[in-house]
Amino acid sequence: MTQKIAPAKGKLGILMPGLGAVATTFIAGVMAVRKGLGQPVGSLTQLGTIRLGKRTDNRTPKINEFVPLADLDQLVFGGWDIFEDNAYEAAVNAAVLDPALLKQIKPQLQKIKPMKAVFDKNYVKRIDGPNVKTKGTLLDKAHALIDDIAHFKKTNKCDRIVMIWTGSTEVFHKPGKVHQTIEAFEKGLAKNDPDIAPSQIYAYAAIMSGVPFANGAPNLTVDTPALLALARDKNVPVCGKDFKTGQTYMKTLIAPGLKARMLGCSGWFSTNILGNRDGEVLEDPGSFLSKENTKLSVLDSILQPELYPQLYKDLYHSVKINYYPPRGDSKEGWDNIDIFGWLGYPMQIKIDFLCRDSILAAPLVLDLVLFMDLAQRAGMKGIQEWLSFYFKGPMTAPGLYPEHDIFIQLMKLKNTLRWMRGEDLITHLGLEYYD
Ligand SMILES: NC(=O)c1ccc[n+]([C@@H]2O[C@H](COP(=O)([O-])OP(=O)(O)OC[C@H]3O[C@@H](n4cnc5c(N)ncnc54)[C@H](O)[C@@H]3O)[C@@H](O)[C@H]2O)c1
Repeated sequence: MTQKIAPAKGKLGILMPGLGAVATTFIAGVMAVRKGLGQPVGSLTQLGTIRLGKRTDNRTPKINEFVPLADLDQLVFGGWDIFEDNAYEAAVNAAVLDPALLKQIKPQLQKIKPMKAVFDKNYVKRIDGPNVKTKGTLLDKAHALIDDIAHFKKTNKCDRIVMIWTGSTEVFHKPGKVHQTIEAFEKGLAKNDPDIAPSQIYAYAAIMSGVPFANGAPNLTVDTPALLALARDKNVPVCGKDFKTGQTYMKTLIAPGLKARMLGCSGWFSTNILGNRDGEVLEDPGSFLSKENTKLSVLDSILQPELYPQLYKDLYHSVKINYYPPRGDSKEGWDNIDIFGWLGYPMQIKIDFLCRDSILAAPLVLDLVLFMDLAQRAGMKGIQEWLSFYFKGPMTAPGLYPEHDIFIQLMKLKNTLRWMRGEDLITHLGLEYYD
């Protein structure tokens, strides 16, 4: 059966708490693509295809022709930041994109001025800025964000809005009492409960406004019983956490390959140097702990040491991030992987990935906002597990382990699109070709 999907008519507003390196590389990138100044490399929604039916049917449409996605021309951008820089200034500061490219889209970027942020230095310790909401309780601030969303939607004549957290990584924290029910959460907002993080106030404002919310950082944010129940109540899709780029992306390519061949792994040592503001924030042990948690869980979930104790029980896994300003956004990630084969004979794999963090993240932002908008138009709500493909720490229903293998994630994503359009799911059984 085909799902009813409302058409992608009118403008789609993209609101981002955090107009830093990732957000501005995304916005400037979309503007550059619209002007024909570059290609949307890395984006499944723009370049990907989907096979339908049998291999002999030769039906492989582009994904954006198969499901009704908003067009790049329909996107409008906005956001909040603790700094007053407009998107042009923030993009220049981030120093990811070539200044000559930025100049060509300068007038459009300059128009994007950050709204006043909801910020709490206890959650992001290494930075502070003047562009913040100071009046009232946390509940008042939540209402101010709800007003910001409504105002943005009206003044930009948007049909729909999607919010994606591209703000700094907040310190690690576990769900407390205030996160258990929406009543407790709202009471906590009114009483300025210190257990409520700013990112949770944005997520609350989004959901209350009927706006899908995606989380690009490892913060807890929307992954609490209270906000998940609210999302289901309000028919709002949510997803997270932490864009899967760089080193973790490499891990989810290699680890499934080792497991597929039943090769053992005794050690995986990962270290990075990174010199952008994200790297600076991650110097704080609390913020790093949030990151470390999403980064470390990946290998355990893929390799399943409980099922394969002789191969992975003693795996020593370590992840380090070092702030090193000279490299800016150009990260270097080293992996030393100690593996073993037949009769336990040891071997090693070394990876030296000279990547660009925001260049890898920008297309993920684009895909996520387009797919989250699609999900809402298709009547989907709550956790969107089919978007695990994009995350280091995919959100799942309670009690369900996340799927980290990128190829299973991709299959799940494409099968979800097939399901939406009433096409047969692809199982790769393929016996019919030999009947
Ligand atoms: N680039 C990648 O490959 C990648 C991968 C995974 C996750 N991430 C995450 O994405 C996020 C953004 O990364 P980035 O490189 O753009 O960082 P960045 O430091 O350049 O930008 C983050 C911005 O968020 C702002 N901010 C912080 N708290 C805020 C708040 N409460 N409200 C509004 N704005 C706030 C900061 O002022 C800053 O401008 C980080 O959390 C990072 O860990 C990035």
